[in-house]
Amino acid sequence: MWTFKILILLCFGSLAPALAQNFYDEDPHIMELTPKSFEKVIHRTNYTTIVEFYAPWCGYCQQLKKTMKKAARNLEGVLQVAAVNCDLAKNKQICAQNKVQGFPTLMVYRPPKVDVSKPFDRRINLDNHASEIYKGERKLAPIVDFALSRMKNYVKRLLNINKLNAVFDKASRPSVVLFSKKDKLSPVYKSIALDWLGVLDCFIIPNRKVQSLNDDDNLAKTHPKIFTFLQKTMPDQKGSEESLLVVFDSKNDEYHVFEGKSLVKEQIAEFLTKKFDLIPNEGPGSRRQYFLDSVKNGKNRKLKHDEL
Ligand SMILES: *[C@@H]1O[C@H](CO)[C@@H](O)[C@H](O)[C@H]1NC(C)=O
Repeated sequence: MWTFKILILLCFGSLAPALAQNFYDEDPHIMELTPKSFEKVIHRTNYTTIVEFYAPWCGYCQQLKKTMKKAARNLEGVLQVAAVNCDLAKNKQICAQNKVQGFPTLMVYRPPKVDVSKPFDRRINLDNHASEIYKGERKLAPIVDFALSRMKNYVKRLLNINKLNAVFDKASRPSVVLFSKKDKLSPVYKSIALDWLGVLDCFIIPNRKVQSLNDDDNLAKTHPKIFTFLQKTMPDQKGSEESLLVVFDSKNDEYHVFEGKSLVKEQIAEFLTKKFDLIPNEGPGSRRQYFLDSVKNGKNRKLKHDEL
C-alpha cells in the first residue's frame, strides 16, 4: 500500500510539471520561446513577430489562448507568432528585459528597414527591432489586422507597364513582377519579398492598370525578347481575373513565367530556386525555416547547419 502511494507520488511529482507546462507546446504555428531562442527568433529576421507574454495561471491569458491559436493559423507564413511563459524561472529575465508588466502582454517586434541598394551589415540589424505593445481589443480580427499592418513592405508598385523600362535600367538582380487580379497588395506577396530580400526585387502591377505596349516602346529596342512577350500577353492580362507571376532577367533579356497551379508560397519558392539556382534568406527552402521548424517542434536537437 505504501509503496503504491509513493509510486503515485513519484509519478505525478515528476510528470505533472512536464505535461502542459506551456500553453502552446503542441501548437504547430506558435513558437514557445526561451532565452536560448528568443534573440535569434525575434531579432535575426526581416519578419515582424507578435509575442504573447503570459502566465499559465492568469485568467485573461487562458481566455486569449484560443484567439491566439486562431491568429497564428491566420498569420502562418507571413508573420512570426511566438509566446513566452513568464512563469518559468528561466524565462523571467526575458520578461523583465522586455518590460512586461502584466499578463497577457501582446508585443509586436518590427525589424528595421533594410536598404537593399547597399551591402548588408549584419551587425546593424541585430537587436534593434522596434517593440510596440498591442493595446487594442483582445479579439481575432483586430489582433491580426494590427500585426499585418506592422509588416515591412518591400514590394514596389508599378503604375504602368512602361515603367518596366526604368526598372530594368537600374536592376542589379532579377525582377519578380506580379500582374495582380487584386489592386491590394497581399501579405503573402509581401512575405515573398521578405524571403528574397536582396536576392530578387519584387513588383506589383494590378491587372486593371495593365496597358498594351506600342511598337515604338523603348523596351522594343532595349529588351526585344521581353518586349515581344509583353506585347503578346498583356492584352489578355488587362483586366483579367487571373494573376500572373513573371520573373524578368533583364540583363539577359529573358523571362520566366510561373506556371504552377496556384500562387502558393512554397511552389513559388521552388520555382524561383530552380530557375535561378538561388536560395532565399527566409521562408520555404531557407536554412532559417529549418531553424524555426526546430523551435516550433520544441525539439532542442542540435542542427547540422544551425547558424544563420
Ligand atoms: C534581411 O535582409 C537583408 C537584405 O537583403 C539580408 O541581407 C539579410 O540576410 C536578411 N536577414 C535575414 C535574417 O534573413
